[in-house]
Order: sequence, then C-alpha cells, then structure tokens
Amino acid sequence: MENDKKVDKYSMLYHLTPKFGLLNDPNGLIHYKGEYYVFHQWNKFEMDHSYKCWGYFKSKDMVNWNNMSVAILPDMYFDKNGVYSGSAIEADGKMHIFYTGNVKNELGERKSYQCKAESDNGKIFEKKGVIFETPSGYTEHFRDPKIFKGKNNWWIVIGAQTDKFEGAVALYKSYDLNNWKYCKQLLKGEVLYNMCECPDLLRFDEGDVLLCSPQKRFENEVVSKCGYFTGYFLEDKEEFKSDYCFQEIDYGFNFHSPQTFTDENGRVIIYGWMAGMTEEEEASLPTRKFGYVHSLSIPRVLTYKNNTIYQNPVEELKKLRGNEQIWDNTKSNIFSSFQLEFLFDFPKVMQKDFVFNLRENSVEVNYNVNLNSISIKRYNWSTNKIQEKIFKLKENLKNMQLFLEESSFELFINDGKYVCTLRYFCESNCNDIKIKCDDKVKIKFYKLKL
Ligand code: FRU
Repeated sequence: MENDKKVDKYSMLYHLTPKFGLLNDPNGLIHYKGEYYVFHQWNKFEMDHSYKCWGYFKSKDMVNWNNMSVAILPDMYFDKNGVYSGSAIEADGKMHIFYTGNVKNELGERKSYQCKAESDNGKIFEKKGVIFETPSGYTEHFRDPKIFKGKNNWWIVIGAQTDKFEGAVALYKSYDLNNWKYCKQLLKGEVLYNMCECPDLLRFDEGDVLLCSPQKRFENEVVSKCGYFTGYFLEDKEEFKSDYCFQEIDYGFNFHSPQTFTDENGRVIIYGWMAGMTEEEEASLPTRKFGYVHSLSIPRVLTYKNNTIYQNPVEELKKLRGNEQIWDNTKSNIFSSFQLEFLFDFPKVMQKDFVFNLRENSVEVNYNVNLNSISIKRYNWSTNKIQEKIFKLKENLKNMQLFLEESSFELFINDGKYVCTLRYFCESNCNDIKIKCDDKVKIKFYKLKL
C-alpha cells in the first residue's frame, strides 16, 4: 500500500491520495503490460488549481500501489499553463496518451490544444505535440479527450462548449492514432449546462453509455453534476442515439469527473474524484493543515442492465479484509480506526426502519420502510450544518456494502444500483458506530488491514 502509514486523523489508507498538493481528475487509466496505471491531475506545489501536471500511481492489483510522482509536466508552448485531463490506450505495445494542453495569454485568455504523448515502458512519456486545435463552432473550453477503439478506427470524445455557450460533446476519428478528423457534435443541449467536462463513451453488450460532468459557471459560483445518458453509439452514422434522459451516477455528495477503462480481464472499471465541492468546501478542507487535499474513489467494476449502470468495488479489495465479524445486534460499537467494510443483508420484508450512524452524526444513513427511501445525511465541515439527500428505491432494499475510511464513505445499495460517495471530517473524538434495525438484518464487517 502506498499510503502505508496513518499520517493524520483523516488519513485515507486505501484510497489514492497525494502526499502533498491538490489532486483532481483521474486521467489516463490503463492496464498496461500487466500493471494498472492511475494518472491524475496534480498541483504538486500548492493546494489550489493554479498549476496542473499529471502525477501517477502504479499497481499490479489495484490494492498495493506505488506512487510514481510526476508523469507529464507543463513545459511546452502547447501545455504551458496546464497538462489538463485526458486518457490512454494501448496499441502496438505502446501506451498512447491524449490530453489537453491549456495555454493562457497575457490577458488571461484561454487556448486549448489536444496533445499526444507516448511511452513504451510506463516511465518515460515522450510528448508528440499537438494533434488538433479547437474547430469552429466552439469556444476554447474544449478539453478532456477520451479515446476508445471502434470497429475499424479509433474515436475520441471531447468535452466542449459551443460558441452559443452550450455544453457539448464533440467526436473525432482516426485510423492511426496520429491523424485526427473532426466528425460532429455527438451531443449538446441544456442538459449539458454551459460546458461538458470529462465525457467518456462506454460500450456494453446491451448498449452504450455516455458519461459526463456538465458544468454551469456563474460569476461567483460553479454548479456541476455528474451522470450519464444511455443509448447506442452508431459508428457508421457517427451518432449517439439516446433519449437524452440524464441519470446521476452517484447519490452522495462527492463523486466527480470519473473516468473508465477496460482492463486486461475485460472489466470496465471506474475511478472518480471524491470532490465536486463548492469553493468554500474545498478551501476549508481539514486536510489542508497537513499539506494535501482530495483523493480518488475506490475502483469499481461497472456493469449495465436495463438502462442502468451498476457499480461494485473490485474483487481485489477483499485482500484487505481481516477476519469476518458479525454485528451481534448490539446497538453501538467503538472503533479505534475506520478502515472498515460492512455487508448488510436485509430480509425480504422489512418491519422497521434501518439507521446507520457514523461517529455522532458525521454521516447517517436512514432507510424508511414506509417510503422505501434512503436518506443520507452528512455533517458539512464548511457550513457546519447537516446536509441531506433523499432518494426512493425502485425495488425493495436487498443489500448494502459500505467502505469506510477516517474521512470517506462509499455505500453500494442493491448490488451497486445506487451508490453514495462522500467525504466527512469528524473533529471530535467520537469513535462509535450505531446501528438501529430489525433483528433479521444480517450484518458482517471486516477491519481492513493495510
Ligand atoms: C474537471 C476539469 C477538467 C480539466 C481539469 C483541469 O475537474 O476541470 O475539465 O481538464 O479539471 O484540472
């Protein structure tokens, strides 16, 4: 494990977290020559967004990680103000990386270049320069190329803003990974707000999914969401056929700009940035006093059924489990650390509400039997208020899997159909978990050993 020591009271021991500075989007996810690479946006100097390079972690099993430090630096005319988000793919034994070079002039005006880098060893990343510039019809908010392989060629989807300030996703194609042709706007409209960040096109046997993070910018505020459209990517017509009904990918508070990749075993795996916070929340993150902010989510396998994405933690995380323990219907337990996994198995017919309360209301999950709804409450470190999200289940509550750390909470409900991802920061010394439920609920838990 990279973060093998508990450094402070919020330490994330099995989540990818920078040693210092600010981490944002997962980038360039790839399983290359038997090793998993997770690149990420990184300000290695400050805990703000003034500088962006790609940092990276490497692992054989997505459990034990090596922090490899820097991969790509902003040192060329086409990326001097930031090596922004992008993706990677393997072809002919090489890792081909696509990213956005962000450039600003003396007036602070933005220009985006889409760039390529290559590596044949996962250590040295050779920049190949600009592959395309922004086509007409778009502003310079044109970024985050995501590559994927089609039947006869390669495709890139890219996040964009039209010259009418609408969010959009643009499509490019190439036969050799070097020469790229603009095809068309794959998607646009109000549902994409004013800019669409980090698009990703996922292909399953049952259909295709376009994942993205639409964003609205006001003078003092940025509003963003993260979710997907289901449909079919028609390669011949260069079209995404969909009912354009946007579904949120996460019901929690902190899951943003995710990226997927397909590993050498054919699994589609997603990582997200555990943020999507307001500026105030980011500015008051308690880990600032220890010199770092933000983490990535745990890796989750995606499956697709009946127009819905399911997310389940990768099997490899079972390696972290200590002995299986049974929650013996005591109401409360004290823990000395919160690297914990819980499995809840609910009876077919529930009689009573279920309540899981973490560290004196830091987080509370409440299942309401009458409404068949879940409420997630979190104590917000920035507003000092409790925030709540409520959603209805479309079927009975069947099971839940929960991954906890000192400052993170990832809950998977009904085989991963509903997921809630969030950060929490418990300032007091409250170390208890309280559970209120029917006797028939079966609860197992594991201390996760690192
Ligand atoms: C999303 C994002 C991307 C951009 C990157 C810059 O969080 O704004 O659109 O490439 O972050 O760090």
